[in-house]
Amino acid sequence: MTRILMVCLGNICRSPLAEGIMRKNIEAAGLDAMVDSSGTAHFHIGQSPDPRSIESGKKHGIDITTLRGRQFVVADYDNFDLIYVMDNSNYKNVLSLARGEDDKAKVELLLNVSNPDQFLDVPDPYFGGEQGFENVYQMINEACAKIADNLKK
Ligand code: 4NP
Repeated sequence: MTRILMVCLGNICRSPLAEGIMRKNIEAAGLDAMVDSSGTAHFHIGQSPDPRSIESGKKHGIDITTLRGRQFVVADYDNFDLIYVMDNSNYKNVLSLARGEDDKAKVELLLNVSNPDQFLDVPDPYFGGEQGFENVYQMINEACAKIADNLKK
């Protein structure tokens, strides 16, 4: 089983959506994989996803209402094989908790899957409007479809 972790800052906007999208892709492809998400910050521990992320998922047939925010912990390096971070700031924060090269090798910028070597951020939609969330949905979806394709091979 491949264990996938999606990570952003608050674990209420981008990474819960990424979790829901990746889960849908895993199911559609019939993969032996699981997915979870977490945030590098502690602000939203125990909270539901942002209503705008819930709405964005719902529009695309994905229910993320039962997810709850949690903070990234060092043990996530033991519990997951692939750790996808939403932006370069998350990347730095997650890597700062790595215990060695094996941990570091698990971490990748999500959009480098769909746009190799471009080091693009999934923009933080928290302070933006609805359209920000649809953009985020599309970017994440493209990368997750690619991850599922790669796992299938
Ligand atoms: P996320 O978005 O990292 O995609 O969950 C944010 C959520 C909350 C905050 C920042 C980003 N915040 O500052 O509380």
